[in-house]
Amino acid sequence: MSHYRVEPYTPRLVLGLESSCDETSVALLEDGRHCRVNLVSSQVALHEKYGGVVPEVACRAHMEVLNPLLEEAMERAGCRFSELDAVAVTHGPGLVGAVLLGVAAAKTLAGLLEIPLIGVNHLEGHLYSTFLEHPDLELPLVCLLVSGGHTQIVEMTTPGAYRVLGSTRDDAAGEAFDKVAKALGLGYPGGPRIDQAARRGDPSRLSLPRPMREVGYEFSFSGLKTAVLVHLQSTDRVSDDDLCASFQDAVVDVLVTKTLRAARTCGARTVAVAGGVAANSGLRRRMEEACQKAGIPLRSPSIGLCTDNAAMIARAGWELARLGLRSPLTLDARPNLPLTPRV
Ligand code: KG4
Ligand code: ZN
Repeated sequence: MSHYRVEPYTPRLVLGLESSCDETSVALLEDGRHCRVNLVSSQVALHEKYGGVVPEVACRAHMEVLNPLLEEAMERAGCRFSELDAVAVTHGPGLVGAVLLGVAAAKTLAGLLEIPLIGVNHLEGHLYSTFLEHPDLELPLVCLLVSGGHTQIVEMTTPGAYRVLGSTRDDAAGEAFDKVAKALGLGYPGGPRIDQAARRGDPSRLSLPRPMREVGYEFSFSGLKTAVLVHLQSTDRVSDDDLCASFQDAVVDVLVTKTLRAARTCGARTVAVAGGVAANSGLRRRMEEACQKAGIPLRSPSIGLCTDNAAMIARAGWELARLGLRSPLTLDARPNLPLTPRV
């Protein structure tokens, strides 16, 4: 059991912890709105030479960084442990060892301080990242969750009432960015590098497939990735910049088309894009244009809150508390935790 029901409560000061992949993060959120501190320690430099995240290396780094980062967060916020009202932590999905470290730290704090422990689904965190800067956004919300591990369209009708409309059948969007970047020798993480190269390139130079664009809400990116790899073997190769621009254009086209289809069907009052790939400049621009055309406001997190951070975990935890949810001190890491409704 990861949660049990209690009387709904509204914690004032929530400590958030995030360690599910290659970022260690600690945040303090006040009244569900004011982010007193949101420290992120990225491991990109450690994983770069391997061309991707190495779980063993990630765990070790989380272990070394978590305690000092926690102390620094408390100091910067000018806050004492006795002032905390709840601790929210990512308990999945993610690398099991990495998630476990955050969960162990959170359980220790909650036990010692005798405050509520709240397990948060990492995807739920991304979903609520939108609310940090737009606390009064109108529901229903249709959110495109695009990260290194996930690609989903989620509808939220009331807080905690999520419905996954569609997911990827194979690669996540961020994974496709990372794999294409690797094939081009652009390094890790690939998304930001492709984004940069795409700005210099011409997206019309190469016509690439738009998998499943015309139907439903599910995604498939592995065929598109293969088309890029096949092109790399051909004799009439376009420049790397043009290739990046064409690839990004195809991904963005599919993501935007499906999100807007979902928004119209659900009668969404707000659209958002969250997760690491939401930092992509092409996606942000095209989604903005499409939402303006459809007359639906787009309320995405700013770029710093798109990639993994603990402020979004604290925000989601605050919401779960208000729904009357708490986690037992036996909370476990769940590497494949699916996003399920809370109400
Ligand atoms: O949400 P996130 O930080 O971690 C996961 O939960 O997976 O997302 C990381 C992913 C990586 O695949 C990275 O390449 C991608 O987000 N990403 C981008 C950009 N910035 C990060 N993809 C495309 N364009 C970007 N600007
Ligand atoms: Zn993430």
